[in-house]
Amino acid sequence: MKAFIIDRYGKKEVGRIADMPDPEVRDDDVLIRIHAASINPLDTKTRSGEFKLILPYRLPLILGNDMAGTVVRVGARVRNFKPGDEVYARPDDDRIGTFAEFIAVKESSLALKPANLGMVEAASVPLAALTAWQVLVETAKLKKGQKVLIHAGSGGVGTIAIQLAKHLGAFVATTTSTANIGWVKALGADVVIDYKQQDFATVLRGYDVVLNSLGTNELNKSLQVLKPGGHLISISGPPTPTFAVARGLAWPLQQVLRLLSFGIRKKAKKIGGEYTFVFMRADGAQLREITALVESGAIRPVVDKVFPFQDTHKALAYVDSGRAKGKVVVQML
Ligand SMILES: NC(=O)c1ccc[n+]([C@@H]2O[C@H](COP(=O)([O-])OP(=O)(O)OC[C@H]3O[C@@H](n4cnc5c(N)ncnc54)[C@H](OP(=O)(O)O)[C@@H]3O)[C@@H](O)[C@H]2O)c1
Repeated sequence: MKAFIIDRYGKKEVGRIADMPDPEVRDDDVLIRIHAASINPLDTKTRSGEFKLILPYRLPLILGNDMAGTVVRVGARVRNFKPGDEVYARPDDDRIGTFAEFIAVKESSLALKPANLGMVEAASVPLAALTAWQVLVETAKLKKGQKVLIHAGSGGVGTIAIQLAKHLGAFVATTTSTANIGWVKALGADVVIDYKQQDFATVLRGYDVVLNSLGTNELNKSLQVLKPGGHLISISGPPTPTFAVARGLAWPLQQVLRLLSFGIRKKAKKIGGEYTFVFMRADGAQLREITALVESGAIRPVVDKVFPFQDTHKALAYVDSGRAKGKVVVQML
């Protein structure tokens, strides 16, 4: 099958479409013909080698962490899917490779795609929506009436997190740049801070939760927005020792992450609050809940650009620019 692979770690120039063996289908796997795959910053970070201590892949590696497609065949123990089903998934992180014609995904990581979405829109959902779910529902346990700041409301994660937080009944503030204010507000945000004009840390107060997806500066300033006892949750780091232990990382790496996150953990404690790093994971059951929210109209994906599969490197470069408005998708069929 055709697939977009890397043979070595590196920046922009690395990666090409090549012929690769068809995926091995284990007893609890579902083989899928991929129609569309979305790009995540994780793909360019994986390509550059930034994650190789946490995700030690063997090369050559097929990139890609999100997909929608049609079931071709199922393993002997699969009960809930059959050939012809239209499905979507964020595959397990040790079995990635959605920039390809086929992939085998564990049944437990898969869900039927929302009936009201085409393949391109569906492919844009799983990783970003599961991230938003695991931050807001699973970690923050966000309740009706609580206040949440979601950074980068115009990004892949931000566009879905705003809608999920509103669905949960929260009051939502977000940050974006001037050109994006209008459409980000239309996603449901109650307050939109133009980060080119205003400093969110001087405007917002008394928040229960912050979802940070930006750098160290925004991470530290986010503490000023929280009320005492508030919860700062970051998906862009720094990772914590709790994460390192849960992930089974080697002891020396645990100590490195302890040091890297020491400052922010200490500062959060000082306000009686908490700092958590979330590294999202595949989860078919959560994805089914997301399917229901998409079908009810509570969550609507935002797709910025669609590239043909042969232009995957261009799609990666566009996401790498950091200016995407919602999600970027490559189309195989
Ligand atoms: N830990 C995890 O499990 C996990 C999961 C998903 C994502 N992530 C990480 O989370 C980050 C965001 O992911 P994503 O998919 O949402 O990225 P993305 O879609 O590429 O984000 C692009 C958006 O970020 C906005 N942005 C850039 N700088 C900003 C700033 N200073 N303030 C406010 N908005 C800003 C841009 O808006 P403007 O053009 O208006 O600046 C753009 O719309 C990445 O670092 C990614 O690796 C982690």
